[in-house]
Amino acid sequence: MSVITESQETMDAGYRLEVLPMSQHTGAEIHGVDLREPMDEATVRAIRTALLRWKVVFFRDQELTRDQHVAFGRRFGQVSPGHPTLTPRFPEHPEIVMIEKEHHRDNPDANEIEHRWHNDLSYMAAPPMGSILRAVSVPPFGSDTEWTNLAAAYATLSPPIRELIDEMTAVHHNVLHVVRGEPNKLARDFMSTRLRARHPVVTLHPETGERQLYVNPDYTSHIVELTRQESDHLLAMLNEHVCSREFTVRFQWRPGSIAFWDNRATAHIAPADVTPGHRRVMERITLDGTSFVGPTGFESVTVDGSGAAVPDNGSP
Ligand code: SIN
Repeated sequence: MSVITESQETMDAGYRLEVLPMSQHTGAEIHGVDLREPMDEATVRAIRTALLRWKVVFFRDQELTRDQHVAFGRRFGQVSPGHPTLTPRFPEHPEIVMIEKEHHRDNPDANEIEHRWHNDLSYMAAPPMGSILRAVSVPPFGSDTEWTNLAAAYATLSPPIRELIDEMTAVHHNVLHVVRGEPNKLARDFMSTRLRARHPVVTLHPETGERQLYVNPDYTSHIVELTRQESDHLLAMLNEHVCSREFTVRFQWRPGSIAFWDNRATAHIAPADVTPGHRRVMERITLDGTSFVGPTGFESVTVDGSGAAVPDNGSP
């Protein structure tokens, strides 16, 4: 893997970190840091810089305990208290969400939900700024995760389309795509409270100011300013564009791998190819984020079923 300018600069600055980009737009592996150890400010800054540049960063061979996972997250922000609708699996660590997958032949429930590209919790008015996923148990092959870069997706749209969508807002909701049968318990829990938010279709990244195409096939329901027919067609095109292969990176998990993504600047897709006979167990924490502002000044809000804003403390 070649080391390009960014990694040289990081080393020249005197840090022992190496940042190895993995694709043209998205993803870098960071070497030379032990996440179990207390981290100095220079290292935190270097990781944050790499995160903002590459949108998702990966670490290998980090055997973290749950406490160390949470402590690592705290260096980059406030760790969110837990998932808004899922019951915590670890009472001593309600902030950790366990993500468990099995091949559908081993568990007939496992394939009921279609995996689609999404941003974590985009149905909240202030979705997480970041997510940190830790591999606990992974199959020997398959089960990769992919990420895409929302700024690159926006920048490569033709100017008239960018101008059109700069003005638009969209509702996101926590409705999962059930492929067949009834939703399993996890899906029922996930959707037990209906959550909806309205975001600008183009968000300004709160730290870099970059414009980003903020729609995803999983949770974006419709564009508010359009008829449903217009919205369906435009969203189909934008959703296809946002996860075009040229913006993506694919990560092969190994035990001890960690992925830390900027959830404001990426969408990702979980695998649907868990190897028969294997379980895939991951643990995720999220870091508190803020609402988005779009190019027109529109700021994300919590909405009711009609798309109207509800008070911050209103039940969805
Ligand atoms: C997630 O969607 O946050 C988890 C992705 C994965 O399990 O690979």
